[in-house]
Amino acid sequence: MATERTLSIIKPDAVAKNVIGEIYARFERADLKIVAAKMVHLSREKAEGFYAEHKERPFFKDLVEFMTSGPVMIQVLEGENAVLKNRDLMGATDPKKAEPGTIRADFASSIDANAVHGSDAVESAAREVSYFFSSDEICPR
Ligand code: PPS
Repeated sequence: MATERTLSIIKPDAVAKNVIGEIYARFERADLKIVAAKMVHLSREKAEGFYAEHKERPFFKDLVEFMTSGPVMIQVLEGENAVLKNRDLMGATDPKKAEPGTIRADFASSIDANAVHGSDAVESAAREVSYFFSSDEICPR
């Protein structure tokens, strides 16, 4: 199986709940290594750019509003099958539909405030990682 990188964001609701460490522990237990990390309060422009593919969706404005409502913790995760592994750890977009034991089932309160983002494919992961990190900010181990 290939070693991959994926972009993960701990969203403002989970940062406010003070569960960054709990979420990091889940990454580590799943053998995902954190090879870059930063805490940022996203500007409207940066959030709109990140979610540009969803510009026409009805929730776009609310999503940008939420993602700029407080600091987020952004990390690059590296490991075998990292993209899918992180999606499995996250659970379904809507926490009501997320499997018990997943991050969203345990920490998210609604589909609007759903605790985490994770890249959905290797290609989008590469784009998303370079949207937030320069190559000298990533420390492969
Ligand atoms: S997915 O799993 O990323 O494909 O989910 P998708 O349904 O395409 O949603 C894309 C992102 O929009 C967020 N989302 C919402 N935000 C606010 N309100 C509503 N109703 C809503 N529905 C979806 C969803 O959490 C995805 O954000 P990220 O950051 O990628 O998780």
